[in-house]
Amino acid sequence: MSILQANPRESGGSASRTGIIERYRKYLPVTDATPVVSLGEGNTPLLFSPRLSERVGAEVWIKNEGVNPTGSFKDRGMTVAVSKAVERGAHTLLCASTGNTSASAAAYAARAGIRCAVILPAGKIARGKLAQAFIYGAKIIAIDGNFDDALRIVRELGEGNEFAIVNSINPDRIAGQKTAAFEIVDLLGFAPDIHVLPLGNAGNITAYWAGYREFANERSTSSPRMIGVQAAGAAPIYHDKVVENPETIATAIRIGNPASWKQARAAIDESRGAVEIVTDAEILDAQKWLAANEGIFVEPASAAAIAGLWKRMETFEAGTRIVCTVTGHGLKDSEAATRDMKEFAPVAATTSDVLRKIDM
Ligand code: F0G
Repeated sequence: MSILQANPRESGGSASRTGIIERYRKYLPVTDATPVVSLGEGNTPLLFSPRLSERVGAEVWIKNEGVNPTGSFKDRGMTVAVSKAVERGAHTLLCASTGNTSASAAAYAARAGIRCAVILPAGKIARGKLAQAFIYGAKIIAIDGNFDDALRIVRELGEGNEFAIVNSINPDRIAGQKTAAFEIVDLLGFAPDIHVLPLGNAGNITAYWAGYREFANERSTSSPRMIGVQAAGAAPIYHDKVVENPETIATAIRIGNPASWKQARAAIDESRGAVEIVTDAEILDAQKWLAANEGIFVEPASAAAIAGLWKRMETFEAGTRIVCTVTGHGLKDSEAATRDMKEFAPVAATTSDVLRKIDM
């Protein structure tokens, strides 16, 4: 059998690792007629985190979404959104993004053999994410404005038939992203008591809540309290007010008027959850701590979830089971990670000089 024949629609083109459409097909808006566009997303590690558990006095697990094909959770939604777009005959994807959506859309467009245009706030995209959109071949349009402006333009352009919009205002994105909650329940055998995740445009909290609710109905498991964490300088849901000029080092969640605001509010209220805010200093501290203590390098927006977990730790009872989603890989934003790193003055290339320098 040739490699192409061994590449049936059912496997999404991945022989070694099937994506979320194959794993959770019956829960997703796909049919046999849907051409599966997959890069083997999902099935990400759910890691028990001993030091984090000790620090907060609860049982903490980390769902590491940074190991998806383009390094963020967006790939779960993108495989469904792009497969459906191709099924409908789309030729060009369009999205607004703080970076990760554009990286993911660009990759899945490349995989599907269609075009992709991304609208980004100029100067506010982490270098690694821009590199991804660029190398996957997307048309990059930088605007003099923020993410909220970019999304407004995307909505307007979406009124025509020219573009398939792959932001989370597209329900196929939410459908794909809810599979992360399925994986957690499948792996643990139960739903956690609390789920903590960063909150930006609010699609992901909406998706997780939908996923937990769906499995709760099917398997009569409980559902967690949903805790969304915003950056202090970009906290519209926390303050219940649009933020005109959002600002944070966590550029992925630098959003002042989230598209899924209402749905996020409903998820938080229905689950008796909460919204938390964290400062940039707390975010960077959490990022460094998580890397050095659990071996997990995440981008600043993801570290916001850890910082938010710390802020709420007094409210946890012993034995509380918590899942924290870290949404994107740290390498995407190496500038943020190396802000405090000094130049390394070289020593002589001798064993003794090197040994003296190790000094630990
Ligand atoms: N974490 C990361 C790494 C993100 O990239 C995003 C959103 C979020 C958290 C927040 O998730 O928007 O569903 O509440 N990034 C979008 C983007 C906005 O364009 O890449 P959300």
